[in-house]
Amino acid sequence: MVLAGKRILLIISGGIAAYKSLDLIRRLRERGATVRPIMTSGAQQFITPLAVGALAADYVFTDLFSRQDEQDVGHIRLARDCDLVLIAPATADLLAKMANGLADDLASTVLLATDRPVLAAPAMNPKMWANPATKRNIATLRGDGIRFVGPTSGEMAESKEAGTGRMAEPLEIVAAVEMRLDDGARPLAGRKAVVTSGPTYEPIDPVRYIANRSSGRQGHAIASALAALGADVTLVSGPVSIPDPMGVHVVHVERAEEMRDAVLCALPADIAVMVAAVADWRVASAADQKIKKHPGESIPTLALTENPDILKTVGHHTQRPKLVIGFAAETQDVEANAKAKLERKGADMIIANDVSPATGIMGGTRNSVKLIRHDGVEQWPDLEKDEVAARLATVIAEQFKPE
Ligand code: CTP
Repeated sequence: MVLAGKRILLIISGGIAAYKSLDLIRRLRERGATVRPIMTSGAQQFITPLAVGALAADYVFTDLFSRQDEQDVGHIRLARDCDLVLIAPATADLLAKMANGLADDLASTVLLATDRPVLAAPAMNPKMWANPATKRNIATLRGDGIRFVGPTSGEMAESKEAGTGRMAEPLEIVAAVEMRLDDGARPLAGRKAVVTSGPTYEPIDPVRYIANRSSGRQGHAIASALAALGADVTLVSGPVSIPDPMGVHVVHVERAEEMRDAVLCALPADIAVMVAAVADWRVASAADQKIKKHPGESIPTLALTENPDILKTVGHHTQRPKLVIGFAAETQDVEANAKAKLERKGADMIIANDVSPATGIMGGTRNSVKLIRHDGVEQWPDLEKDEVAARLATVIAEQFKPE
């Protein structure tokens, strides 16, 4: 009963989805939560404070400069006297205000003043959701630690337009509230992680490329394990045939340079785990057209050039995450090589594995690794890649335990 006794400050902003907030209040209260509503003036165009107040069995706050409200509670106390701030529906306008720190009404002022976890359920027209301005605002807010539930796709209430923009259903929002409040069991809640996974494909010409045998299983499992502990995870994945993990923001790339750009875009972050088997070299100048075979003439040679070392870049970056972890795929002198990599790449830990063909690790589901830190080496037993991921996530969480 995560919700029993929990105090939810519910901000209702002005969208047609506000009618679902009435049911949401009921669902939250039947699970034992107290709901204190704030309505924007837009929200009051769609549903009345009377209905909201009746369902919440509480006073509905609407004005920033209400003498009665200010004396009663005050917007600062309102912002703090709760376990969670829930915005449902969250309009494009309110999200834009939040992303920019505007505070020109009670809802936006409370959002700027709160030090509580904030969960938003966006609702808007699909074009508005897809607009680059909204996308920028959402990315900013995610970076600020705001969590989202929805929007989902389907037909819009106001038109026959379909697409992503519908507010999540009340029960989905309730589940997200429960998850957000259960963050005690999620020691990486509020932490941002970036994980790379899979191989990279380096083009030779439009139809051919250089690649390697990485399946992405280990990197994807790590992204998933970090998300399960509450981290906000961006997974930058090279081409793989396994599905995107749930609850993780996935950026698909092909080349090492694209992977580096996507990783740098995900900074600042608290944690970086670089698992991808990045191609060390790319073809110096990939051909624009398919290279043709000319019988009797010389066979083409490929001139290679070095790819950016993403782990090293992150390990020495001005926005270096607190914890930078790399992998070392070795076929010989595993420990010594991995230790050298730790220093060279500016990492805090290296997971070293023996990928000599006899082990069957590359492309397989099991992994036998050593965890190498500056002050010691731990040999882990032979584990499934999921288990290696869960164990690593726990090691990472220990680094973020409150003092
Ligand atoms: N790595 C990276 N960018 C590269 C190459 C490697 O981010 N261009 C990262 C990998 O994701 C991994 C670590 O560096 O975390 C080690 O990769 P590995 O291939 O073992 O090391 P290399 O630096 O390529 O060294 P070598 O091939 O000489 O062993």
